[in-house]
This record gives sequence, structure tokens and C-alpha cells, in this order.
Amino acid sequence: MVALDQGVERRRRQHVLLDLRQAPKPQATVMEFSEVIRTTCAVRDFVPSTLPDATLKRILGQARFAPSGGNRQGWRVVVVRDPAARRSLSAIARPTIQSYTAQVNAGENPWNTIVPSRVTAAEAAATQVNSPLFENLDDVNLIPAVLVVAVDLSVVASFDRDLPRVGVISGASIYPFVWSLLLGARNEGYGGVLTTFVARDEPKVQALLNLPSHFAVAALVPIGRPRKQLTKLTRKPVEEFTRWDRWNDGTPFKVVE
Ligand SMILES: Cc1cc2nc3c(=O)[nH]c(=O)nc-3n(C[C@H](O)[C@H](O)[C@H](O)COP(=O)(O)O)c2cc1C
Repeated sequence: MVALDQGVERRRRQHVLLDLRQAPKPQATVMEFSEVIRTTCAVRDFVPSTLPDATLKRILGQARFAPSGGNRQGWRVVVVRDPAARRSLSAIARPTIQSYTAQVNAGENPWNTIVPSRVTAAEAAATQVNSPLFENLDDVNLIPAVLVVAVDLSVVASFDRDLPRVGVISGASIYPFVWSLLLGARNEGYGGVLTTFVARDEPKVQALLNLPSHFAVAALVPIGRPRKQLTKLTRKPVEEFTRWDRWNDGTPFKVVE
């Protein structure tokens, strides 16, 4: 039994060593984890820069260590360099940005599945939008990388698929990867934002980028050098979203230090 355990432990260590060998090489600058996680903000405004392919590869190489259901790693990434394709993505996003803005202007939680919107299609179509990010999407000097991240649904277990509500579980196999991309970009001095506007017209994105129809478009992530780097993000305190034992009559999660 002891010998068996030792064998298991030896194989486990070999496995760990193998993983370390495959891990990306350390880079020149490494930020403190707590600083990266507390300051990775949504960056929509960039200064001109380049993003070397090797840096982008390192960012992708770190993000691939994200978890996914059954470790099936259904993420698929298209790095969109072509300005014309970027202009098309921007055009695809525009009506959705208009309807999102119209709903925000009406005081709604936009695109909500619980409370339906009262904004009409005509009102949305008439809404003025100001999205420097999508207006500049084709500017490769300002936004050196535009990543369209899809998830191959043929490998995803969607455990909530039969519930009478919008699906959320499938997203859990892709958004940790997207978030890790943003953390990795921040660690390299770059920034970006997880955007989802183009997903509303997924078939158009699939046609534009030649994606199979079972690849769900999860995000469009621009990456560049932030014009401004926030150092303090607005977030609710832990006690506000965590309770002991139960929700309605549970006591807030308070730690006496
Ligand atoms: C699921 C998801 C979808 C998002 N979609 C968009 C989007 O379509 N467009 C956009 O500009 N930002 C989008 N964001 C970015 C959020 O607005 C941003 O993360 C949030 O406001 C916090 O910003 P901060 O980190 O700068 O405080 C999205 C974020 C998430 C997590």
C-alpha cells in the first residue's frame, strides 16, 4: 500500500514538473497578484501602441490555464487584424449599443430577462450613441489587438439547459478564460474590456469570421495601452453580497479581526 502511494505521489510530482515545463516562460516584469486583481479595470480609451505577437502569445498562454467544465477548453480565439473586418464588427455592434443606451436612458437594467424593456425598436433606432471604443475599433495603432472569443458549444456541459430561465452555466466555461486574458494584459501594462454587444448578432459575426455555427460568440476584447490606469475600482464590500447559512434571513458575513 505504501509502495502504491509512493508510486502515485511520484507520478503526481512528474505531472507537476511536466506542467511547469509547459508553463510560459517568466516575463521581465511581474506585478503583485493582489495589485493585478484589484486594478484590472475596463479600459475603453487607449493611447497609440504596438502589441508584440510574443506578448500577445504570453497573454493567451497564461489565459489557457483558466478552468472549464471537464477541462474541455472550448475557447477559440480570432485575433482580428483586418481593419475592414473590425469596421464590420463595429457596424454589427452599433444597433445593440443604441438599444442598450436607450434602455439605460429609460432607467432600465438593459437587456434584462426578468423585467422586459419598455423601449421600442423605433426609440432604440433613434438613439444617439457615443462609443469611442467601437468608433476606433479599426484603428490598429490605437487598438493593436481585437480578440473575438468564442466557445465551442459541442464540448460544453450546459447543466441549466432545461431550466425556464436564461442559461448561465455555459458562460462559466469561457469567461474565466476571458477574465484571465484581461488580468494577463494588465500584468503586461496593457488593458482592455470584455464586451458582449456583438453577441446579439452572432450569426453575422460567425459569417464574418468564418466560425462554425456551434461556436457561440462570448466576447470581443480590444487590447491596447490604457490612456488612464485606475488604481481604485468601485466595488461593493464583501458584507453586502455574502451572508452566513441563508440569504433572506441570513446574517451578513462579518469577520471580527
Ligand atoms: C459579462 C460582461 C459583459 C460586458 N459587456 C460590455 C460591453 O458590451 N461593452 C462595454 O463597454 N463593457 C462591457 N463590460 C464591461 C463592464 O462594463 C465593466 O466590467 C464594469 O463596468 C466594471 O468596470 P471597471 O472594472 O472599470 O470598474 C462587460 C463586462 C462583463 C463582465
